[in-house]
Amino acid sequence: MDVTSIFSDTLFEGKTVFITGGGSGINLEIAHTFAALGANIGICGRTQDKLDSAAEGLLKKGASVFAKAADVRDFDALQHVISEAGSVIGPIDVMVCAAAGNFICPAEKMSANAFKTVIDIDLLGSFNSAKAALAQLKKTRGSLIFISAGMSEIPYAAQAHVGAAKSGIDNLMRNLALEWGPYGIRSNSIIPGPIAHTEGMRRLAPGELGDELKKQIPLGRFGRAEEIGQAAAFLASPLASYITGTALRVDGGQNLPGSGFFSALISRKLAEKQVQPVTKS
Ligand code: COA
Repeated sequence: MDVTSIFSDTLFEGKTVFITGGGSGINLEIAHTFAALGANIGICGRTQDKLDSAAEGLLKKGASVFAKAADVRDFDALQHVISEAGSVIGPIDVMVCAAAGNFICPAEKMSANAFKTVIDIDLLGSFNSAKAALAQLKKTRGSLIFISAGMSEIPYAAQAHVGAAKSGIDNLMRNLALEWGPYGIRSNSIIPGPIAHTEGMRRLAPGELGDELKKQIPLGRFGRAEEIGQAAAFLASPLASYITGTALRVDGGQNLPGSGFFSALISRKLAEKQVQPVTKS
């Protein structure tokens, strides 16, 4: 669905939306949704080449774009990029804390450094992103959107690192709603379900594992990346002006039957070595 058939293509005109990890996947689709609705777009990530090609696509949508590499684990580098983005494309109205890392690995096999790596990217990176944008969000009375995951609510096998990080993110989101609400800053998160054609799904549920998983989702299908973008646009829009401290599930009902099916499937595939626990990239 074209988001401009529902929302005006000027809804975010003159507003700046910054998305960490915005160079690819769901995060880039969030950038495209806001660009279609008239926003200026800032993105950062670890790889400048990836950001450059993402920026090219966003420029074609007519957006003003700022794209510069910064690792969300490095607060000083991130702060620098976010301040520069604010001066180049305008102060940030919407900060989407979305950069994440994931791999399938049972806790027993996971090194302490592997666990820490995901906590650092997802949880610490989300705090760094929110903190680095705070001065600009105070000026704009803007909003924060965190990208969480189903593992935040219930445990999924081989996802101890992600579950710990995402639960932390959702609690951080509520804490910032409480502490920064008086500045007029809203803070919410989105809990995406399995989204088709993403790096996350390629890693978590490749091939037939994905087909089996699909049958367990109440709505009977994987989500589309644009559906996460649309949820983000809603949360950032005046339609959500009294919504803060909320984790919005956009998962086709995936978490309702629990994680037992996924956990059993992943444990079986790990035992059959159809999914490799350690595929260092
Ligand atoms: N299974 C188990 N451990 C893994 C792993 C895997 N698949 N991938 C990385 N690790 C471990 C490494 O072995 C290392 O621990 P060690 O020092 O004890 O060996 C630790 O994690 C850090 O790995 P490294 O590759 O140096 O970290 P990185 O910061 O370069 O990359 C990731 C981190 C985890 C995000 C990497 O998997 C990645 O780049 N993924 C692509 C992005 C992504 O995950 N997208 C999906 C979003 S849902």
